[in-house]
Amino acid sequence: MSKDKSHDLSNESATNLYLDLLRDVITNSIYSDPPILSKRRGALRHLFGITYRPGSYDAKSRNSGGDWPSLAHSMIGMQRMENVRNCAVTAVKDNVPGDFIETGVWRGGACIMMRGVLKALGDTDRTVWVADSFAGLPKPNAEKYAADKGDDHHQYDVLAVSVEDVKNNFRKYGLLDDQVKFLKGWFSETLPKAPIEKLSVLRLDGDMYESTMDALVSLYPKVSSGGFVVIDDYHAVPGCKQAVHDYLESKNISVSICEIDGTGVYWRLE
Ligand SMILES: C[S@@+](CC[C@H](N)C(=O)[O-])C[C@H]1O[C@@H](n2cnc3c(N)ncnc32)[C@H](O)[C@@H]1O
Repeated sequence: MSKDKSHDLSNESATNLYLDLLRDVITNSIYSDPPILSKRRGALRHLFGITYRPGSYDAKSRNSGGDWPSLAHSMIGMQRMENVRNCAVTAVKDNVPGDFIETGVWRGGACIMMRGVLKALGDTDRTVWVADSFAGLPKPNAEKYAADKGDDHHQYDVLAVSVEDVKNNFRKYGLLDDQVKFLKGWFSETLPKAPIEKLSVLRLDGDMYESTMDALVSLYPKVSSGGFVVIDDYHAVPGCKQAVHDYLESKNISVSICEIDGTGVYWRLE
């Protein structure tokens, strides 16, 4: 049978097609699930300037990570998911040493993308670290972290996703294996002793000042030159932004911050 060359896919275009599809499935822009209601009996609610409405999928919101999806495996939206992919692909292609981590994973979608990138590029050396309480956010400790005063994330049961459910989500994509490692517990307890040597992608999505600061203190020193730091909630949660700048100023580090979608930001270490 003659081979029709036009039907051949180069490795690179097959990789791109797989990662495009992974992004669209993880964010569920394909089946377009509606946002979830907040715990508070479905009343319209403003949280960080976002209005959560019951029942209506909005493509613009899903693109920019402006809703909490009822079914999708990530709430970060398509643009920030694309950023996860680009950081991970670039780290591998540029041989930046180190693993990938997300601190604050919810249903696991951004880490599933990270593992998918390693799979697609044939990288068998790096680990994807999946760090979460798997029980939602901590109550604010306003005495220690004034910026978290009044933070009510801990009241949202929907933000507590068990480690079994997250593992099961990885399994659905055929991406649960020994290149994925789970750090279960509060960041303040798990991250200082995590057996991570180097990182090439550090993605922070713990929303609060405390969660952002705990992750930066333990993990920023492990980011390799050429590695990426991504802050999901930079423009969404004032305490998160403050933690970033408090940390950078305390270490006398200056960075060139790049915008992703009006909410998340990232920078690359020199
Ligand atoms: C906004 S969700 C993360 C969304 C996720 N990155 C995605 O792709 O959809 C925040 C997550 O951070 C976790 N979290 C926040 N602060 C934490 C802390 N101090 N220790 C452990 N987990 C924390 C919560 O349990 C929750 O799963």
